[in-house]
Amino acid sequence: MRIAVLTSGGDAPGMNSAIRAVVRAGLYYGIEVYGVYDGYRGLVAGNFEKMTRKSVSEILSRGGTVLGTARMTSFQQKEVREIAIENLRKEGIEALIVIGGDGSYKGALALNEMGFPTIGVPGTIDNDLGGTDYTIGFHTALATIVDAVDKLRDTASSHQRCSIVETMGRHCGDLAIAAGLSCGAEFIITPEHPMDKEKMIENLKKHKLEGRRNAIIMITENTTNVYELAQEISERSGFACRATVLGYVQRGGSPVAEDRILAGRMGAYAVELIKQGISGVAVGVSHNDLVYMPYEKALDRDRGSMQDLYELIGKIS
Ligand code: F6P
Repeated sequence: MRIAVLTSGGDAPGMNSAIRAVVRAGLYYGIEVYGVYDGYRGLVAGNFEKMTRKSVSEILSRGGTVLGTARMTSFQQKEVREIAIENLRKEGIEALIVIGGDGSYKGALALNEMGFPTIGVPGTIDNDLGGTDYTIGFHTALATIVDAVDKLRDTASSHQRCSIVETMGRHCGDLAIAAGLSCGAEFIITPEHPMDKEKMIENLKKHKLEGRRNAIIMITENTTNVYELAQEISERSGFACRATVLGYVQRGGSPVAEDRILAGRMGAYAVELIKQGISGVAVGVSHNDLVYMPYEKALDRDRGSMQDLYELIGKIS
């Protein structure tokens, strides 16, 4: 049997660990694995290469993705996907493993519906997929954010300032919430927990009167203009405020152990599912057990994003 693997969408630390797991598990089961370069773009261009044990040596701990990745909006067109399927079949490839986030899953679902078997592996720092407790890359991005916020707390405290920290996450607040809990942030603003600006400014005034030396506000990207918010807080709360947008640094770096373990387990599991003749599903982890589910469930974001942690922050921050 011959299968292929690609990474797609925003890169995430641990994608390499997942590629390695797919290739090595494939070889273990006597399956040939082809690597597709630059996501769906490489599928359409026929940019594949047969992977060997050696081609995935020493990538386990490397950030990014050795296969490259891309966002390809034209893959939404059926005629474009037909070319991809033709290229796969020409090489005798019978199934495709897609490591990526929601946009990548939509492509994988569409290929499956056109009769080409696919399996999705959740690779995104955003943790915004349904049916899995964690996505590959989330824990490493979280560690990067925590490291940055601890540093920002040092300078905020020295200057008696309030610090706004904007995280990635697209439309999902998990990174901001988990980092907020890890760093003792005073305020968390996410798409699921919108800002009550007046209340926040009142609380900051109170903090100032109580003699607190700093405050951290964690905020998910695409929520508000953090520079304007910092200006307003400076003018109205008594705290001088600065905003820091962490940006793409959150996507890089060597994956932490949690992501390497998750990637190893999920990558191998995806190969095992193909071996069992299962396709048209995404893999995930639920209460530390590997699971698989229809793409539709993975694409359903309505899952009460880290509500328990958010409530805990309200009690202990
Ligand atoms: O999905 C991962 C992610 O980093 C999001 O957090 C962010 O909104 C987006 O990708 C940025 O995408 P791009 O790399 O296309 O700018």
